[in-house]
Amino acid sequence: MKKEELKTIILNKKLPTHIAIILDGNGRWAKKRLMPRTFGHQKGAKTLQEIIRISSSLGIKYLTVFAFSTENWSRPLEEVNFIMKEVKNLCKDYQKLINRNIKFKMIGSKEELAPDVRESIETMENKTANCDGMTFLLAFNYGAKQEIVNATKKICEQVKNNNLTINEIDETIFEKNLYTKDIPPVDLLIRTSGEMRISNFLLWQIAYAEIIFTKVYWPDFHEKEFYEAIYEYLDVIEDLADWRKVNETKNNNRSSDVYNLCTIIRIRRLVFNCSNNVPCLFRHIWIDKYVSN
Ligand code: FPP
Repeated sequence: MKKEELKTIILNKKLPTHIAIILDGNGRWAKKRLMPRTFGHQKGAKTLQEIIRISSSLGIKYLTVFAFSTENWSRPLEEVNFIMKEVKNLCKDYQKLINRNIKFKMIGSKEELAPDVRESIETMENKTANCDGMTFLLAFNYGAKQEIVNATKKICEQVKNNNLTINEIDETIFEKNLYTKDIPPVDLLIRTSGEMRISNFLLWQIAYAEIIFTKVYWPDFHEKEFYEAIYEYLDVIEDLADWRKVNETKNNNRSSDVYNLCTIIRIRRLVFNCSNNVPCLFRHIWIDKYVSN
C-alpha cells in the first residue's frame, strides 16, 4: 500500500495513545555501508527527528524511545561520546518542539550523565514544560529493572516514614513511583532491526502492549514504515474486538489462546516481510477454524 493510502486509513481510526520504540540497528546499517557505527547513530538521530514530527502531526499523545540503556556505557568511549553529542544536538533544538507544542521528558537516571549533557536535557525539559500536545519521552541511561527497584525503594521509604501503609500499596501507588508517573501505559511497542527482545525496556508499562518487530534498521525506519506498524496495530486491535465478539457468542473462554496464536502469526508476517493479504487470509481461516473447534 502507498504511504498516503496508509495515512488516510490510519487517520480514520482510533490511534494508539502511547507508542514506544526500541531504536535498533544503527550499527548494522552503517556496517552495511562500510561506515563507522557513529555514522549509523548520526543517521538514526535524523530518523528520530522525523518520527517525532510525524507522531505529533498524526496526533499521537505519547512517544517514548529507547536511545541509551544502562548497559550501553560498555560500548567504546568514542561511540558513547558520539551518542551524548547527538543528544545535546537534539536538545539544543528545543524551539522545534515548542513550535509543535511537544513536551519533552527524559526517563532514566540523570546521575551518571556528564554535567553538560544533563544540563541540555534539563533545559529542553524546562523550555517545553508548558507544551500540552504530544509528550516525547527519551529513555536515556534507562533500565526497567532499575526503575522497578527504585520505585520499590521509594515506596519503602514512604512506609518507613509512616506516609503509607503496606495495605495501601497497589498498582496505582506503584505506577506513581515509576519514571512514567502520570503517563498512560504503552499501546504499541515497535522494535526495529529484526531482534525480537524487550531488552529491559518499560517492563511494567508494556504489560498489555501490542508488540511489532520489524526487520528494518532504525535509520531506514521512515514515514511509510511507521504507518505500516500503526496499520498493523489497528488491524490486530480490530481482529481482537471481533474475536471477543465471537467468543462472547460462543460463550467460551479461549480468547487468550487465539490472541497468542495471532501474535505469533503477526510477528512472522512482519519479520519475514510477508505480503499483507496472504498471511491475513491464512490468519482468518486459521482463527475461524480454531474458534469453531
Ligand atoms: C541501537 O543501535 C541504537 C542505540 C544504542 C543508540 C540510539 C541512538 C540514536 C538514535 C542516535 C542519537 C540519539 C538521540 C537521542 C538523538 P545499535 O548501535 O545497537 O545497532 P546494532 O544493533 O546494529 O549494533
